[in-house]
Amino acid sequence: MKITRILLTIALTSAVAFTAAAHGDKKDKSPEGQAAKYRHNAFNMIGYHFGPMGDMVKGKADYNKDAFAKNADALASLAVLAANGFEVKGTVKGSRAKKKIWEEKEKFNAGMKMFQENTAALATEAKSGDMATIKPALLKVADNCKQCHKSYRAKKD
Ligand code: HEC
Repeated sequence: MKITRILLTIALTSAVAFTAAAHGDKKDKSPEGQAAKYRHNAFNMIGYHFGPMGDMVKGKADYNKDAFAKNADALASLAVLAANGFEVKGTVKGSRAKKKIWEEKEKFNAGMKMFQENTAALATEAKSGDMATIKPALLKVADNCKQCHKSYRAKKD
């Protein structure tokens, strides 16, 4: 019995350690740790909504006007929320946010603002149902993801 409990404890502890490495420490209640968790949650939701739109634009999935518009609306809201995750200065182990973000916060904020404007424009375009204007609007947003990650997101360990 005792051995089983010890083994179980070891297994659970290593599972927690693994999660901590990938997504910050869940038990980290510091403002920096909480902000990192907020960022991860926001960007995962951003990825969730962006993926299907990308597939529709690329022709990997059938275009569905309503589904696309719903994803575009959610993305525009999340782009506003994501900025909150950078208000606390500094980063923590397990986060891929580079220190550079807070060293040149105005430049970072300008990139975030562009992302918010372009996602709002995409949400407006999505209502037209016209792929000829939706596609360039989506490509602008995709470029925002790419550029910001290039400058401010550290590579995976
Ligand atoms: C203004 C900068 C910026 C923009 C724009 C941006 N990201 Fe990110 N993204 C980041 C940073 C910084 C991180 C790392 C956050 C961390 O680890 O604390 C990140 C992390 C992520 C992650 C990983 C989340 C996790 O659980 O570790 C995903 C997925 C992601 N971004 C998707 C996107 C997509 C898709 C877009 C565009 C639709 C986008 N991002 C636009 C800065 C940005």
